[in-house]
Amino acid sequence: MTQLSGNAPDPDAPDLGRRQFLNLLWVGAAAGTALGGLYPVIKYFIPPSSGNAGGGVIAKDALGNDIVVSEYVASHSAGDRSLAQGLKGDPTYVVITGDGTIENFGINSICTHLGCVVPWNASEEKFMCPCHGSQYDANGKVVRGPAPLSLALVHADVTEDDKLSFTDWTETDFRTDEEPWWA
Ligand code: FES
Repeated sequence: MTQLSGNAPDPDAPDLGRRQFLNLLWVGAAAGTALGGLYPVIKYFIPPSSGNAGGGVIAKDALGNDIVVSEYVASHSAGDRSLAQGLKGDPTYVVITGDGTIENFGINSICTHLGCVVPWNASEEKFMCPCHGSQYDANGKVVRGPAPLSLALVHADVTEDDKLSFTDWTETDFRTDEEPWWA
């Protein structure tokens, strides 16, 4: 009668390769379950895209809220130029026309000299840079240096849900009849 030796392998025990495989399977399943469970949590912290099909953004006010056009025009008078958050986060002027609607272009407030934000001076009806004295007319066209170029333009449009959308301006600059230097 033969006897099994003391250290003979147990035929029912999984060998090392099989055990590792089972371990990997278990780890993979656990990781998948954990990541699946985390997905809604991760998604919660990713802000919804505010872009549109044309690559633009919804303009935001100083508090980071979407600008609602009907409310905006009711609270801003004709000729007003106030800053909103625009493309790439650039502070961009929303222009109210003489008849109280939003102009179909916005004006990037970054000075083309050395990048200061240029304030609107309502009494002078100009954008006047405090850094080195450059001046721009009411549409952002440079009228006094050292700034070499006019302020950049963006398109400003009202969306179907009454928000203000900024998109790239790639056409001729209507103020200079030249190609846009910023495009
Ligand atoms: Fe505006 Fe220099 S940065 S004039």
